Formats: sequence, structure tokens, C-alpha cells
Amino acid sequence: FGNGLLAGRHVVVSAGPTYEDIDPVRFIGNRSSGKMGFAVAEACVLAGARVTLVAGPVSLTSPAGVARRIDVRSAAQMHAAVLEASAGADIYIAAAAVGDYRPEQVAPCKLKKQAGADLVLTLAENPDILASLSALPEHPFLVGFAAETHDVATYAQDKLRRKKLDMIAANQVGEGLGFETADNALTLYWNGGSRELPRAGKAELARELVACVAERFRGARA
Ligand code: C5P
Repeated sequence: FGNGLLAGRHVVVSAGPTYEDIDPVRFIGNRSSGKMGFAVAEACVLAGARVTLVAGPVSLTSPAGVARRIDVRSAAQMHAAVLEASAGADIYIAAAAVGDYRPEQVAPCKLKKQAGADLVLTLAENPDILASLSALPEHPFLVGFAAETHDVATYAQDKLRRKKLDMIAANQVGEGLGFETADNALTLYWNGGSRELPRAGKAELARELVACVAERFRGARA
């Protein structure tokens, strides 16, 4: 696959979940393993790109050849890291499962159980990393992911338009696909087209995704 499709290009990839701390021992997270994003980073390296990998809390080693890895925990940290890394980058592939909300306040000490009473947490909205990049006058070619449990095509195409992305990779979560699984299946959408990438291992799927991104990227810059 060492095809040079992205030779000379700087690609930023985000991967994994975010953890939003409640107190020093508890957090709100999600089931993203980071495997898809790490496979995408590896496929970009194989395509000849210089790759910056922004990783949420995952226990994965960086693929060989990744130029720079930035480890983050929260959505706010990922937002700052991606914005910094994306300045001047050619492509940003957002494979991270970013938490939409965070506890409004992080308790400085472990919260104590109050027996017999409910605990109410107020959640504040996190910044949307992709949307804030697409709002910049100059930004990289933007690729988002949409993991959905139902109405995949509708939600994905809506995200493509709403977040002003160049491409979105949609996958159905569940039935042995998506989070915490080896296999995945994707449908890619862009303005005026789509492509099905049928069920395959995440490494193979990532290579097909990256080939398609490279093709659309060249088309966009032509
Ligand atoms: O969470 P959602 O399904 O809207 O995610 C769609 C895309 O938007 C993903 O690529 C995700 O990485 C990105 N996203 C983001 N910032 C957020 C939430 C999601 O960049 N706060």
C-alpha cells in the first residue's frame, strides 16, 4: 500500500474517547477504543503523510512512523491540541469520540455519597472541534466520523452540511460493528457523492478511507 498518495502532506488525526472529570476519581467517558483512529493514522503514514496523532485516553501504542503524538484527556484539551496541530495542516481526520458535555464543575475532592438522595450533575456543552475548524477562514480538508445506532445516512449527511465538512465516514454502531470491535463498515459521503466501504478489518478499511480522502483532497485543491 505504500502508495505515496499523501506524500508531502501533513495530516492530523484525532482518536479515542474523551474523559470528562467529575471529581479526582470519577469521569464521564465513552466506549471508543481508539482503534479506528489509530488505524487511520497508520494508513496515512503508509500513504506517505507526516502524521500528527491527537489521542484521548487509550492504551494503544502509536503506529510506526507517526511524527508526533499529543495525549489529551478532556474534550477541551483535545480542542486546544487539534487547533494548534492543524494550523497549516492539509487534512484533519476526526476519528475521536468527543464528549458532547462535561460536568460544569470538577469537584476538587471526591464526592461523598448522600444516602437516600439523588445526585444532580449539571453538564456544560463542549466546543465542537470540527465546527470550530470549519469556521476558520483557512482550515484543512475536514473529514468527520459519524457513529450512529439508527438513521445513519440521514444523520451523517446532516452532520456533513451542518459542520461544513469535506467528507464524513458513517458507521452503524452495534451488531458486532463499531466501538470495541475488530471489524467496521463505513459509508463515505461528500457533497454530491458517496461510497460504500463494506465490512472489513479496521486496518483495511482505514486504507480504503485514506485512499478516498486523498482522491477527494486532490479534487478539492485542483
Ligand atoms: O459526536 P458526533 O457524532 O457529532 O461526531 C461527529 C464528528 O464530529 C466526529 O468526527 C467527531 O470527532 C467530531 N466532533 C468534534 N467535536 C465535538 C464532537 C464531535 O469534532 N465536540
